Amino acid sequence: MTTPPNAPALQQGFSSDNIAGASPEVMDALLRANAGQSAAYGADEGSARVQRQLSDIFERDVEVLLVPTGTAANSLSLAAMTPPWGAVLCHEQSHIANDECGAPEFFTNGARLMLLGGDAAKIDPVQLEAQARRKVGDVHSVQPSCVSITQATETGSVYTLDEIQAIGSLCRDASLPLHMDGARFANALVSLNCTPAAMTWQAGVEALSFGATKNGVLGAEAIVLFNPERARELAFRRKRGGHLFSKMRLLSAQMEAYLQDDLWLKNARQANAMAAKLAAGMQDLPGVTLQGPADANILFCQLPAHAISGLLDQGFRFYHDRWGQGVVRLVTSFATQAQDVDHFLAALRAQVV
Ligand SMILES: Cc1ncc(COP(=O)(O)O)c(C=O)c1O
Repeated sequence: MTTPPNAPALQQGFSSDNIAGASPEVMDALLRANAGQSAAYGADEGSARVQRQLSDIFERDVEVLLVPTGTAANSLSLAAMTPPWGAVLCHEQSHIANDECGAPEFFTNGARLMLLGGDAAKIDPVQLEAQARRKVGDVHSVQPSCVSITQATETGSVYTLDEIQAIGSLCRDASLPLHMDGARFANALVSLNCTPAAMTWQAGVEALSFGATKNGVLGAEAIVLFNPERARELAFRRKRGGHLFSKMRLLSAQMEAYLQDDLWLKNARQANAMAAKLAAGMQDLPGVTLQGPADANILFCQLPAHAISGLLDQGFRFYHDRWGQGVVRLVTSFATQAQDVDHFLAALRAQVV
């Protein structure tokens, strides 16, 4: 197969939304925050403004703790909800179970992750109901302690509001707090076209890992607590876990710029639109099978082996054959442009047609 004409040597990568840098607005804000002095350890004015911004966005007072990584946001939140003898009920494909190197177990001092099935990486409520009551009160067994869902999921699907509410109501009945891993919160939100409140606390979510890094921030995530009682404990956990930044203003400045003027929503719309464009361009190609809709900014598909190697040889980058032979994951970001997608589609077409 030949390389399309005028193709640059290094092609656009679709391996992750982390391969992009940060939005210019965020970098400008970071530079501004760098000037002068500011109170340390989260006592800066920017941190207070972020708390107000997020309270406005979620239409109620929330407690906010900024951390540098999604793994920290997830693990610290889960630790505040789960004793060492507890179990976190989560999907078997979840990031916390597969991609955090045991950090949730570490920060909870050894709690168990209880893995549940369900289509499209979404927890099956029937399985959840059974496990939520499993051996409760039995001193020989770990105790179900909280539930964690990912929105958007690791496969790019999005829980509907009804699905979140159903899980929220099961959690309420079983007295289990509900955590949401929102590493791609904005992508899910613009996909559902609902309010942040509807997708979280109104559906029963108690703690949210509000992602920003994948969607235009250099490195900042927010733990958003809808139950303020957990905030005090989490503050100590964050410090003890080594995630309390002394120069917190450099995190808060990023988050403030991200939330300002709806940059976070604009970025997510771009990422999602590019995934939808990829899906539309691939759906009728021979030998190419899409594995589900592109609800957010991740698309799974099945490609012939020669097409995968041909694209890789041309410099395109994506993960493949991890989830099954010929299975390819394509991820778009706020920085992905229509011409990047067109370029990839032209190269793929040349492989398969
Ligand atoms: C679903 C999900 N949760 C959380 C994270 C956060 O990971 P990190 O600790 O690399 O910021 C990621 C990143 O890949 C993710 O995909």
